Parts: sequence; structure tokens; C-alpha cells
Amino acid sequence: MELGGAFTIFLALCLSCLFILIAWKQRSKGGKLPPGPTPIPFLGNLLQVSTDATFQSFMKLKEKYGPVFTVYMGPRPVVVLCGHEAVKEALVDKADDFSGRGELASIERNFQGYGVALANGERWRILRRFSLTILRDFGMGKRSIEERIQEEAGFLLEELRKTKGEPIDPTFFLSRTVSNVISSVVFGSRFDYEDKQFLKLLQMINESFIEMSTPWAQLYDMYSGVMQYLPGRHNRIYYLIEELKDFIASKVKVNEASLDPQNPRDFIDCFIIKMHQDKNNPNTEFNLKNLVLTTLNLFFAGTETVSSTLRYGMLLLLKYPEVEVKIHEEIDQVIGPHKIPSVDDRVKMPYTDAVIHEIQRLTDIVPMGVPHNVIRDTQFRGYLLPKGTDVFPLLGSVLKDPKYFRYPDAFYPQHFLDEQGRFRKNEAFVPFSSGKRICLGEAMARMELFLYFTSILQNFSLRSLVPPKDIDITPKVSGFGNIPPTYELCLMAR
Ligand code: HEM
Repeated sequence: MELGGAFTIFLALCLSCLFILIAWKQRSKGGKLPPGPTPIPFLGNLLQVSTDATFQSFMKLKEKYGPVFTVYMGPRPVVVLCGHEAVKEALVDKADDFSGRGELASIERNFQGYGVALANGERWRILRRFSLTILRDFGMGKRSIEERIQEEAGFLLEELRKTKGEPIDPTFFLSRTVSNVISSVVFGSRFDYEDKQFLKLLQMINESFIEMSTPWAQLYDMYSGVMQYLPGRHNRIYYLIEELKDFIASKVKVNEASLDPQNPRDFIDCFIIKMHQDKNNPNTEFNLKNLVLTTLNLFFAGTETVSSTLRYGMLLLLKYPEVEVKIHEEIDQVIGPHKIPSVDDRVKMPYTDAVIHEIQRLTDIVPMGVPHNVIRDTQFRGYLLPKGTDVFPLLGSVLKDPKYFRYPDAFYPQHFLDEQGRFRKNEAFVPFSSGKRICLGEAMARMELFLYFTSILQNFSLRSLVPPKDIDITPKVSGFGNIPPTYELCLMAR
């Protein structure tokens, strides 16, 4: 017993020394970090942060320390940016300095710095340029991607008609159709909605997004060094992502076996062709790891974000039926009952456009953004952030910045309309973030949101199973993502 006590004290002393050493190393690099709560040796700010969802605790710290402060995730200092001004100053005005990717510990084990979304330096630049070019050639921002969405929306409507107004949980109706759009770009074809493997993949993606947002993931983010060796729920996400990786690797094998270099069918083919061209370059970034993980980044990000936004959006329309009525009116005026909605209709539909913006603003799918990292010692608002410091741009605090939005916590489409009912931009609308790391799929996502919302509402009215006033729109889980509550609705043919 006594020996055990002495050992505990010895261990505590060692950990304190380690912590002081890290803090000292930080200071000796010349860093004067923004102020923040005093960390407890080794534990960092765990106690302050873990009692609430991380985002909420950060907002409380903002009240005390202002829009730029430092918290310790375990022994690691992280600078948090709140509100439009601070985030813009970092991500836009000092875009290059803040262009690194910070540690997303809960999935770093799977990615280890490979794949466009978690890469840094030259690797990131090369993969980002390549991905954007290929997505564009396959129709991103052009007509053909629009046609793919229109076609997929047609399949969705067919499925929804089959429900004959019976109650449904919209989750997998939406994720199957949205995922098929990015699938047709990266894998060259869509999946059948009845395909069991497809549904399993979507369930895994959905579960991963939820797992990334649980308190377990938060604990893992703080103490990955220790937690990765411990059993527990935090490991679930690792196995889920490994399975998704295996699926993509098997797709790559099929593509390799049937490749025609003159006729690339999809993103994977284009990447394999580049691998062949670069095969004598030992430093090339066009290797199997980057192929599998970049494809996974696109498939994952291209599925879950858009389908969660649609799902949350439909819930908001159930809660505010008067908004749905106005969208129906605009659809009837501009598109009519028979024409397939197209992106060109958007400029003629300011109200619908404003509602979609307001849905994205209020649902705030990625509230803390994806962590960034400063790629060199960086002066910021009188502080010196040493190279390698992680930075959280709290996108949720920008989307709800009271200086830019009159009723930050309300669903108020007029945030995006002027007095004449014309669409009005708002510079604090940043659900896709901003600067050099801005979402690579923004153009595609915006098209999808418009075409899916208009296609669904052109053909159906949404009916809630409970009175609108009883609909609770609080996220089911809030962490890395804001996960919409589970609900059912009926789609009544118009
Ligand atoms: C409503 C839909 C979407 C939202 C709200 C969203 C949001 C975001 C956010 C906040 C980031 C982090 C940006 C940063 O680091 O500052 C991001 C990055 C990214 N998104 Fe999206 N996204 C959406 C749809 C998509 C789609 C459809 C794709 C794929 C085609 C996609 C692919 C990516 C990729 C690859 C990155 C990493 C970019 C990089 O690190 O350079 N996203 N997204």
C-alpha cells in the first residue's frame, strides 16, 4: 500500500515535470500565446472543457478571455478563435500562415497525415490541386455534375413516392441519394439503393460522424498518447474507418484491373494514371496511401455533411411550416409543377436561397471547424504563435456572431434578404470555412442543397407527426459535428 502511494506520487511528479517541460519548451520557442485558463499539470484544461460540449465551454471561455484565447488539450496548447473578425483575420488576411492542418486526434491513427483533408505542406498542395482539377473535369461547377444531381434527385423522388405518405426516418433516404453523387465522381457509378454493402457503408459513415462528436472522442483528442493504448468506445471509430479504407482499396484494385489510360472513368482512374506517370519519382505524392485516403476524404465529406444538412433542414421546415408554404409558392411561380429544377432557377428564387443559407447557418454542421495549424511563427493580435501551434476557428461562433446576424439563435431567413425581398449576402456566412483550406466540395454541396430541397418540395409537402411547437431542434450529439435529432415525417404528394 505504502509502496503504491509512493509510486503514485512519483508518477504525478514525473507527469508534472513533463508538463512543465512542454510549457517551458513552448515559451523558449519565443511564443507568447494568447491568455486562457491556467492548465492543471498534464491534465490541461480538461476539467473546464469536459463538463459541457466543447463548443459551449469555448463560448463560456470567450466571455472571460475575449475572442482569442488558449486552452490546453492535455499538454498541448490550442489557440481558439471566436467571431467573424478574429476568424477572418486568421484564415483570410493571414491565409498562408494559418493554412496548416491541426491534429484531429480521433482519426489521425487512420490517416497519419495522408489524404488531402489531413495532409500538410507540399503533400496537401499537390493533392488539393489535383482533387480540384479532377472534380472540375468530371463536372464540378459545370453542367454535368448538375445533371448527376438531377438524375439522383429523380431516383430519390421515386423512393419517396413509394412511402405513400407513411411515416419515415429520412436519414438513409437522403444519405443514399447524396452519396451517389460523389460516388459517381470517385467510383464512376452510382449504387443501387437496395445494395446491402452500400447501406452498410453509409451506416458506418453516419456512425463515424457521430463517434467523432462524442465526449469519448473529445477525451481522445486530449490524451491520444495514452488513450490509443486503452480499450473502450473511443476505438470504435478507428475500426469503422479501417473498414471504409478496405472498401476503397478493393475498389482501387477493380479499377486497376480494368484501367484504360485513354479513358479515365472516375477520380480513382485519374489518380492511378498519375501514379503510373510518376512511378520513377521516389518522392511522388501519387501513391496508394494518398489515393485511398483522398478518395475516402471525398466520399466521407461528400456524403455526411450534405445529407445531415438536408435532414436538419427538413426538420426546421417541419417546425416552421409557414416557411415551407412560402417555398412552395416560389417553386410554383418560378419552376412550376413539371420542369426539373436547375441551378439557373436559384437567382430567381431569393426566398428559397435565403432559407437554405439560414438552414446552414443555424444547423452549423461543423461548429468548431476542422483544426488548423500555423505553418511558421506567426504574429497575431500582439501574440506570437510558434510554428506548429494548433488553431480552432470556431465557425459556429461566426455563424452566430450577433454583429452580423440580428437574431443569432433564431431561424430567421430574413438574415439573407433585403427589404425588397432580394437575396442579401452576409460575409459571416462561413459553414464551409474560408481561406486556403476552404471546403473543397463547396460548389458541389451548394448545388446539391438547392436541387434536393427544390425537387423534394416541388413534389411533396412535409408533415410532422407531432405539433410543430413540440419539435425539439437541439442536436442529438454536439462535438466535432452537430448531429440532427432522429425524427420521422410523412411526405404527402402535392
Ligand atoms: C454542406 C456541406 C459541407 C459542409 C458544411 C462542409 C464543410 C467543410 C469544412 C468546415 C471544412 C474545413 C475547412 C477548413 O479546414 O477550414 C471542409 C473541408 C473539406 N471538405 Fe467540405 N463541407 C461540405 C461538403 C463537402 C463535399 C460535398 C465534399 C466533397 C466533394 C467536401 C470535401 C471536403 C474536403 C476534401 C475538405 C478538406 C479540404 C482541405 O483540407 O484542403 N465537403 N468542409
